[in-house]
Amino acid sequence: MLSVSALTAMRAHAQEARRAGRRIGFVPTMGALHAGHLALVTAARARSDIVVLSVFVNPLQFGPGEDFARYPRDLQRDTTLAAAGGVDVLWAPSRDAIYPEAPQVTVVPGPAGDRLEGAIRPGHFGGVLTVVLKLFGVVQPDVAVFGRKDFQQAALVRRMVRELNLPIDLVVSPTIREPDGLALSSRNVYLDAVARAAAAALPRALAFGVEAFRSGERNAAALADGARTVLDAERGLTVDYAACVADDLEPQVSADERSVLVVAARAAGTRLIDNVVLGEGLEEDIRVAG
Ligand code: PAJ
Repeated sequence: MLSVSALTAMRAHAQEARRAGRRIGFVPTMGALHAGHLALVTAARARSDIVVLSVFVNPLQFGPGEDFARYPRDLQRDTTLAAAGGVDVLWAPSRDAIYPEAPQVTVVPGPAGDRLEGAIRPGHFGGVLTVVLKLFGVVQPDVAVFGRKDFQQAALVRRMVRELNLPIDLVVSPTIREPDGLALSSRNVYLDAVARAAAAALPRALAFGVEAFRSGERNAAALADGARTVLDAERGLTVDYAACVADDLEPQVSADERSVLVVAARAAGTRLIDNVVLGEGLEEDIRVAG
């Protein structure tokens, strides 16, 4: 595996690969790699000849008072995991390389970026789309892989790729979960034992919604309320939202197979988000060994 930091080195390497006719797969991350990230690498490998993984904790997507300063950073560990996981090029640019000046040109996600996570974290998705577009501009991948775990992020990147005519195949890969259903997340390291136990209510709330859907419930508000009741019953959680939306994030009155149940809550100050496609259920996701 090649490790690069400079933007020019990354660009030169990608250009060389392209000239040799190789298809470039790209997995953008903020590091603190886990099996969820590595599953995206596997999905990228299956669709390309060379896999680039970026590690960059993007200040632009963190609000004031969020966890930018304490976000877990361990490039040595990430390097070992990425190499073992089949990454060809690990790109870990410095903050100055990505933002040599205060950004004036940024991406506006549109109304879908102001809902759900965007309502709780104003400006978050503008920061995400701006950095993703900047990273795409350097790597110029043929295919980019994102996790369904961050459903709204993936939907907004999909919209950006479409509306800005980016020549990139976007792949959205299933969520990797702990044996009790908790979605893997770099932020799970913040959870103590009590908060960790409370966090398990998120997949339980999603499973409850899926069961209701399978039993014939189609009212989107009722499905969201059912999930919310499960979350509210967990004393260790503060619920931010539970909603049932269309796969393009539009609000829905009546749910169908492609509708997505999304939940967000805080456990001892740590933000947790999760979702499920109602017609697929959590069975479509992958559990790591317990
Ligand atoms: P990060 O949280 O590091 O996630 C990087 C990618 O891994 C995202 O596409 C995310 O959806 C995916 N991912 C995280 N947990 C997952 C899980 N349990 N199963 C499957 N995929 C999972 O998302 C970001 O970074 C940033 O916003 C980024 C896109 C890199 C822009 O800064």
